[in-house]
Amino acid sequence: MNAQEIEAKVKHLLSQMTLEEKVGQMTQVDFTVIGIPKEQQTEDQIDPVKLNEAVLNHHVGSILNTPFTPDNKAQSIDVWRKMTGTVQAAAAKTRLKIPVIYGIDAIHGATYTQNSVLFPQAINMAATFNPDLSFKEGEITAREVRASGLQWNFSTVMDIGRQPLWPRLWETFGEDVHLATVMGTSYIKGHQGDDFSAAAKAPTCLKHYVGYSYPLNGKDRTPAWIGERTLREYFLPTFAAGIKAGSPTIMVNSAEVDGIPGHANYHYLTTILRGELGFKGFTVSDWEDIKRLYTRDKLAASEKEAVKIAVMAGIDMSMVPFDFSFYDLLLELVKSGDVPLSRIDEAVSRILTVKYQAGLFEPKPLLAVEGNFATADALATNRLAARESIVLAKNEQHILPLKKDARILVTGPTANLLSAMNGGWTITWQGAAEELYPKDKLTVLQAIQKKAAGQVTYIEGDRQKVLEEAENHDVILLSLGEQPYTETVGNIESLALDQVQIELAQTAIATGKPVVLLTLGGRPRIITSIAEQVSGVVLGFLPGMEGGEAIADILYGDYNPNGKLPISYPRNTNGFTSYDYKPIESFESNVYHPLYPFAHGLSYSSFATSALKLEKDRIHSGENIIVSVNVKNTGAITGKEVVLVYINDVAASVTRPNKQLKAFKKVELTPGQTESLRFTLTPYDLSFIGVDLKRVVEPGDFKVMVGKETVGFTVLK
Ligand code: BGC
Repeated sequence: MNAQEIEAKVKHLLSQMTLEEKVGQMTQVDFTVIGIPKEQQTEDQIDPVKLNEAVLNHHVGSILNTPFTPDNKAQSIDVWRKMTGTVQAAAAKTRLKIPVIYGIDAIHGATYTQNSVLFPQAINMAATFNPDLSFKEGEITAREVRASGLQWNFSTVMDIGRQPLWPRLWETFGEDVHLATVMGTSYIKGHQGDDFSAAAKAPTCLKHYVGYSYPLNGKDRTPAWIGERTLREYFLPTFAAGIKAGSPTIMVNSAEVDGIPGHANYHYLTTILRGELGFKGFTVSDWEDIKRLYTRDKLAASEKEAVKIAVMAGIDMSMVPFDFSFYDLLLELVKSGDVPLSRIDEAVSRILTVKYQAGLFEPKPLLAVEGNFATADALATNRLAARESIVLAKNEQHILPLKKDARILVTGPTANLLSAMNGGWTITWQGAAEELYPKDKLTVLQAIQKKAAGQVTYIEGDRQKVLEEAENHDVILLSLGEQPYTETVGNIESLALDQVQIELAQTAIATGKPVVLLTLGGRPRIITSIAEQVSGVVLGFLPGMEGGEAIADILYGDYNPNGKLPISYPRNTNGFTSYDYKPIESFESNVYHPLYPFAHGLSYSSFATSALKLEKDRIHSGENIIVSVNVKNTGAITGKEVVLVYINDVAASVTRPNKQLKAFKKVELTPGQTESLRFTLTPYDLSFIGVDLKRVVEPGDFKVMVGKETVGFTVLK
């Protein structure tokens, strides 16, 4: 159906709808609202009476989540297909037969469908610097979501990750605006294709608009202090790009920016989002966040006022999620004239439009499970993504790759856990239920055991035993990091590693044997003193279900590492300077001195860039500039390298970052091979948010930096 046809259909449908039916469309409830309580559960999880209450009597437009009963965990694909079928059958019985859109957090694959392909988390996908893999992840996730009968994915996170304490850092594509833009939009395009009504495609949801990722104190759902210029330069562009890439839904910031909760911010939700960014889809609240304008933020004096504020600010759908209060209160507000019907019609039109675009009004048979779910191809893509997402940060005296017959002592709390590699939104919300993880996936330890020809000994954390056993081994693999967490549950006060892990590291180092440190987890916990004393450092973050095998591939040299850090890895607990720091951040005693800088990552080969050139050294404002550079594999084995193009605006009316990433490309080169690369920088790449909060390109000198070379050009007046 083309846009015009959809518009006509929506208009016609809207004209037939009662106020109750309209307000129902704006209501989204959790599965619990239709589910059978744990104690009474048999085979079925949906209570038909409750389902009718939601869909027929309250006309709800959307349902979300996996059943909270019995355990809020992934369901088999057959159960999902049946459950979503039951929901749609109820919708088909409504007066106007408006389908319910079922939404799910398929954050790194179809989280809540058992045995789905679970990819590296976003922070790792960013470390691949490979948009192709992000595209494929989108494709595979959409396919598995649809094969599960689900229709809408609350992914991808377009917040940028510049606050390393924040427990959702790993859900982002890292600290850089350009990298997050490229990886996020590639995912969306893979997930939605050109037409997300196709059987294997589904709508995405940009999260969490906007400024959510930058809480001042690092804790989830706490205030961000972001001025409008910074917001426009760092936090809005990724969302603008996501909208341009076609994502039709947006979830709102659950916290607040500059004193205004995300759900009450008319300026962001309407003036900017609709007026400037031209977003045509619908916005959905985050979990319970309209109520929280009253219960938490004290912005509203009652729940009813909260509903009014949120709807008038620009929220189209409320993730209520446990009752019909939003529906009841909004009905009252419209009847009393406090919320105009025109606002309801606007919101409902947007929701219905997306439902038409998603093909929900013309349901197709469900995708066959066979050939669409956990396919060999998808698993291979996942393995590659995991491999490309691992960052080799230090490799002294070529401790890595390990010899196959080396005798290895593996120790540390993350070595033998699948959960430590997957993080939150894996099988359960918190991702920590190790016992529910698939039995055929390998932990780091198991993958090493599978590959090693020499002796492998595992001592989880007994320091005395590590001391005793070390002498029988050639190398120690010390696997540290974090256990899984999601959202506020993961709040911490410091990035410091806990004492138990520090002591284990000290013991491993004290043995005198060479130590390779592996870190897993969602945040860069401080490892400086350990990293300085060990021979090798591998930063694994959250590489997903294939992470164990991917890490073993790299440890043994069966794969040449090429992951690059998508964040600056802090040296100290408060070392939060990003790579694109301002001049004042490197002035006098200030320095950018992370443990590992943004884009750091070693290979078993070596690469060099040369012959950096610009097509012109003067351009007029509005012109593109063409950059060319050669990249050579100067090592002895084939490998992949990422070539990064940075710019610096030499002098400007708003302080400019020392450098900003504007383009990158990953290439694979055989030993001795050289490739010539060309990049086009557009006027947008040279622009920034000026004194008057508008985007400008100021004439003057610019620098382009690739590798060790810098060239300059001038934008003429
Ligand atoms: C999270 C969202 C998520 C939603 C639905 C919220 O608590 O902030 O990212 O999509 O729950 O599960």
